[in-house]
Amino acid sequence: MDALELLHSRVSSARLTGSVDDVQLENILKAAMRAPDHAQLKPFRFLKIAGNARETLGSLFARARLTADPSISSGDLEKTKVKPLRAPLILVAVARIVEHPKVPEIEQLLATGAAVQNILLAAYAQGLGAIWRTGSMAYNQIVNEGLDLAPDERVVGFVYLGEVEGNARKPNQLPVQDFVRDWTGR
Ligand SMILES: Cc1cc2nc3c(=O)[nH]c(=O)nc-3n(C[C@H](O)[C@H](O)[C@H](O)COP(=O)(O)O)c2cc1C
Repeated sequence: MDALELLHSRVSSARLTGSVDDVQLENILKAAMRAPDHAQLKPFRFLKIAGNARETLGSLFARARLTADPSISSGDLEKTKVKPLRAPLILVAVARIVEHPKVPEIEQLLATGAAVQNILLAAYAQGLGAIWRTGSMAYNQIVNEGLDLAPDERVVGFVYLGEVEGNARKPNQLPVQDFVRDWTGR
């Protein structure tokens, strides 16, 4: 696929199945490494969660939800538990925030976000589907501890990856002129 066609047509896919092979994953991670990154801090790392580990993640999510809301219904708890089973592979994008004289925290988070976007694009380029998810589980202390994150690390996203189930969505083509204005000074 032509690079511009790829950039103009990428969509997220929520319904994912099948598998992601080692070559596809390597290509995805190589794309992540090409994220723009002020001062080359490489603030990002990724946890690969597949197979039975997805169930372990689901149990961790359920424990975190139950702690946050002890009155949660068993139905909602079960829904939380099966969330990681929505794709064969999840990459947890983690940002490690360091003190830096020129690179504030926001730039380290943005660099990690750019790495996530490259992951989405590399998945799409290979005919795979992907979706960037967060939700309350991305900002939960129990989840962070269960994922063995250090105190200076933050979850930037759970990237669900797999083969697209059914037909891919059509991209919503927005009129770019609505998002840009000339600025010529005062
Ligand atoms: C930081 C971030 C967090 C997101 N979290 C969620 C989420 O938890 N659940 C969800 O359904 N979509 C989430 N989204 C939106 C989807 O990833 C996706 O962008 C959206 O469904 C629009 O689809 P598109 O990428 O095809 O335009 C998130 C997007 C971003 C950038």
